[in-house]
Amino acid sequence: MQIAIDGPASSGKSTIAKIIAQQLGYLYIDTGAMYRAVTLMAQQAGVAYGAEAEIVQQMGQQTISFQLIAGQQHTFLGPQDVTELIRTPLVANNVSEVSALAKVRQLLVKQQQDLAATQNVVMDGRDIGTVVLPQAPVKIFMTASVSERAQRRYRENLTRNITTSLETLKMEIAARDYKDSHRKISPLKAASDAVHVDTTGLTIEQVVQKILEIIHAKLKI
Ligand code: CDP
Ligand code: CDP
Repeated sequence: MQIAIDGPASSGKSTIAKIIAQQLGYLYIDTGAMYRAVTLMAQQAGVAYGAEAEIVQQMGQQTISFQLIAGQQHTFLGPQDVTELIRTPLVANNVSEVSALAKVRQLLVKQQQDLAATQNVVMDGRDIGTVVLPQAPVKIFMTASVSERAQRRYRENLTRNITTSLETLKMEIAARDYKDSHRKISPLKAASDAVHVDTTGLTIEQVVQKILEIIHAKLKI
């Protein structure tokens, strides 16, 4: 079983996907964390974000993996726990350049498809319904207004002691959405058979409820 959730930055994909996966007993796969980990890899190796060949070489040396620790999903780069490091503004503001590289996408998409081949998954990202899991029986395209998404990210950043202003966040999120939607390969786009869910003004619980209703209706469970 595959549930695909796509949408722009900070629309609530990972929060909701995690809860849904837990409720259904499925594996949650955060594909954004994988692109962020590759961006961090480039940073740590001192490689330019657009240097495809060098980044691909780095990817051959360090695997990206997920581990559940005390009920929380952690992201690893080789043996290094990078869960927090991949959330810095430096990574967020450069990830779109890295995720536009064809060979990086090829490698990560293959890894994502392999993960979904043997287990039930809820996967979130930008191209899950269109490219990674085009056969998924449930596809959600999650959105929210830019103001609301910036506010959500602002509150989330405070818990990490990151104090970027609301105005800057709005600009950063809009810029990332633009780059993600306008790149040549696998741009952020709703699959033609995706159900659109606007989460503006909705609490996490309300969105979870909505998505569960969609899943139950689609799968008749
Ligand atoms: O959490 P947030 O919405 O800020 O972003 P994310 O889901 O962690 O994804 C970070 C970045 O990775 C996105 O802005 C995209 O550039 C890229 N990405 C992608 O290209 N394809 C995916 N399937 C997932 C993420
Ligand atoms: O994965 P994505 O970037 O789409 O968003 P997220 O990381 O799940 O959500 C960004 C922030 O918004 C988190 O701090 C969530 O707790 C919060 N959120 C919210 O306040 N209301 C929602 N309906 C969904 C998420």
